[in-house]
Amino acid sequence: MKTAVIIGGTGAIGSAVSEKFSSKNYKVICIGRTTKKNLNEFYVCNLLDVTSIKETSKKILEKYKKIDVLVNCAGINDGQELKTLNENSFYEVIKTNINGTLFFSKYLLPGLKGGSIVSVSSIKANSPTKGVAYGASKAALNNITINLANQLSKHKIRVNAVAPGYTATGMISAKERALKAKKTIIGRLANPKEIAQIIFFVAAEATYINGQIITADS
Ligand SMILES: NC(=O)c1ccc[n+]([C@@H]2O[C@H](COP(=O)([O-])OP(=O)(O)OC[C@H]3O[C@@H](n4cnc5c(N)ncnc54)[C@H](OP(=O)(O)O)[C@@H]3O)[C@@H](O)[C@H]2O)c1
Repeated sequence: MKTAVIIGGTGAIGSAVSEKFSSKNYKVICIGRTTKKNLNEFYVCNLLDVTSIKETSKKILEKYKKIDVLVNCAGINDGQELKTLNENSFYEVIKTNINGTLFFSKYLLPGLKGGSIVSVSSIKANSPTKGVAYGASKAALNNITINLANQLSKHKIRVNAVAPGYTATGMISAKERALKAKKTIIGRLANPKEIAQIIFFVAAEATYINGQIITADS
């Protein structure tokens, strides 16, 4: 059985990704701060704590020698513009949104050889957004993706990012949804399952996609 580690597997997109991999007969290992309703194997890990990332990776590698797929779905947006920005919140967003990909890739590396890494970025990596830290974190994630693809190709690891547009999750309030839907060509937000389908394709099937940021938007 193949294994997929899903960071942020408790979230809206992360749950849909976990379900997708489970439906394709992967053993799914989820990572987050709270177990919520997660039925998969679950490791508690706060991404702000790199020591905990290292220890969690060690526990996973003791149990599973091979990790076929690592997906990072964890992320937060404080929505703070320059006027209201404060240092603590800025670095919390940056660390939360980057640490998962960066440090789980580093510490799970012995198991990931021959596998694939996908990070959930955002269309906001390349366009203005209210959350200064959020936009910066996603732009950094895109660059980390390209760098890791380059540095890990010798281990036959593909590294990509999927950058969704507006998706119907708790990240977008009910009040904002109609407005965001009007900004799309299709006239509606994405469903987390539609994003999970693209993540699965990039992570597990698209053997000639590497070092790419795949936009999942309409
Ligand atoms: N919704 C959208 O419109 C949209 C669009 C583009 C990109 N995205 C991206 O998609 C990803 C998933 O977003 P979502 O909408 O599904 O949001 P969500 O439901 O709020 O999920 C966020 C996930 O991140 C985890 N997380 C947050 N802080 C953490 C920390 N310090 N340590 C460990 N885990 C942490 C949460 O787990 P715990 O609470 O258990 O810790 C949760 O599983 C994010 O990266 C987001 O930026 C979303």
